[in-house]
Amino acid sequence: MNFGPVSRQDSLQLKGYRHACHVMIYAPSDEKLFGKIPIRYAVLMQLRFDGRLGFPGGFVDPADGSLEEGLNREVGEELGAGLALAESDHMCTHACSTPPQKLVTHFYTKKLSLAELQDIERGAVTAREHGKEVMGLVRVPLYTLRDGIGGLPAFLSNSFVGNARCQLVDALRSLQLVREPWLQLAIKHSHR
Ligand code: GTP
Ligand code: MN
Ligand code: MN
Ligand code: MN
Ligand code: MN
Ligand code: MN
Repeated sequence: MNFGPVSRQDSLQLKGYRHACHVMIYAPSDEKLFGKIPIRYAVLMQLRFDGRLGFPGGFVDPADGSLEEGLNREVGEELGAGLALAESDHMCTHACSTPPQKLVTHFYTKKLSLAELQDIERGAVTAREHGKEVMGLVRVPLYTLRDGIGGLPAFLSNSFVGNARCQLVDALRSLQLVREPWLQLAIKHSHR
């Protein structure tokens, strides 16, 4: 699959494409792993029904009045949470013209407090799609352990759906959740 960047506006003019919206929910955290390794941020992804990692969200349906309405419906189904995501939460859009499906993926990010994020984690097991489309939420480890692989490099070695891995790396960079040299090393040392 070959995804290229496109503006949100221009993507809406594309003919014959389906649109999907996904969101990265994150929260600053003071917690430390083993009492010493700073967690820094809780960042949510999910293990999908197909065994791959992705973000909460999904296809925008014709009945959805807007991209964000579609996203909020999908987040309700997959997380059981009413987040009221808006156009201001939009981060980037990519289009993929490779068959079988022409697809536009819109990506949103939402910063919450750790308490709010923990509420979502607790509620997610009661969501309609829990155990169906969604096998469970996971937090992304942002640190790299002393072996140089454990943590973010190993996480990035997983299988990701669509361009979710790019969305994750881009968001960690542009929101400055991981420092650039560490991000570069994590990408370099991930097995793929
Ligand atoms: P259905 O209800 O079964 O249609 O699923 P859904 O509406 O929840 O759709 P899904 O979340 O699977 O997303 C739709 C399509 O977007 C997928 O088939 C993938 O190709 C792609 N996709 C899924 N998750 C992500 C993601 O996190 N990021 C990106 N960029 N694409 C994704
Ligand atoms: Mn232990
Ligand atoms: Mn869904
Ligand atoms: Mn989905
Ligand atoms: Mn759907
Ligand atoms: Mn569905």
